[in-house]
Amino acid sequence: MTWPSGEAAFVTGAASGIGLGIARALVAAGAAVALADVDGTRLAAVVDEITAQGGRAVAIELDVSAEDAWAAAADRAEAALGPTSILVNNAGVISNAPIAETTPEAWRRNFRVNVEGQFLGTSTFLSRFIERGGRAHILNTASMGGLMPIPGVGAYCASKFASVGLSLVLREELRGTDIGVSVLTPGTVATGMTAAEGAGGANPDRVGEQVVEALQAGRFLIPTHGDFEPILANIHREIEQAFADTDDRHGPDPSAQMILAGVDPLNELLADGAR
Ligand SMILES: NC(=O)c1ccc[n+]([C@@H]2O[C@H](COP(=O)([O-])OP(=O)(O)OC[C@H]3O[C@@H](n4cnc5c(N)ncnc54)[C@H](O)[C@@H]3O)[C@@H](O)[C@H]2O)c1
Repeated sequence: MTWPSGEAAFVTGAASGIGLGIARALVAAGAAVALADVDGTRLAAVVDEITAQGGRAVAIELDVSAEDAWAAAADRAEAALGPTSILVNNAGVISNAPIAETTPEAWRRNFRVNVEGQFLGTSTFLSRFIERGGRAHILNTASMGGLMPIPGVGAYCASKFASVGLSLVLREELRGTDIGVSVLTPGTVATGMTAAEGAGGANPDRVGEQVVEALQAGRFLIPTHGDFEPILANIHREIEQAFADTDDRHGPDPSAQMILAGVDPLNELLADGAR
């Protein structure tokens, strides 16, 4: 049996768009899927569709930003489908406003759903993955807006940079284990999030298939559109130039030296109170 056949997955934001595409692709690859979403009505319809076609799926109504709801949601999924070994933190929201016009509530909403939701999902399932052992995988859906600035959606963009940061740290902390980490950074995908703009973009079901292939191959960063590459290359060139312009007036940095020597700087450098 080829992984993820026979595995059980938990996918958030699965009632529509990219989450539904990933859920469908996981089912097609032989996995059972718990589809979690805040939209219970749409969720029921898509779970009916998947089960009518012979897939194993269960609907889990969940607001990913509700800390107290996560353990019960995970328990319900595992009671229905068996132990989860794949977590897809995909649910997301966006606010359309430049930073100067972004309200604190809009800022918090982006961070609660897009970042805290991913942290809560990870902390709920990671301890179960570690306790049980065996192959497991966590995928976070970020965005190209998590790698480059997109003016006009600053709260969203900052939250997606946080999602990429969360994923990068998680990968380091889980290196050498059987738990893989990936981060999906879509460009434009034709979903409810973009349809109002008539923006076109990739088909979410094809993105779901791309994601399953990437998980099978153990890929970390999953971009959907290669035409962003020169934009990112410009950002990286700016970083390299800033380092080339640095005059090293402060002398060597102890953290950098330890990391370069393969030593964990936190054990040596963090004050006791910061642990
Ligand atoms: N569509 C794009 O072009 C695009 C590009 C980059 C990144 N993304 C990211 O892809 C992910 C999926 O978005 P999409 O494009 O499929 O949009 P979508 O609106 O079709 O799907 C988002 C889903 O998340 C659910 N959701 C929203 N808040 C939730 C919450 N608090 N708890 C549980 N579920 C919640 C919604 O009900 C919806 O079903 C998001 O994280 C989004 O930021 C999308």
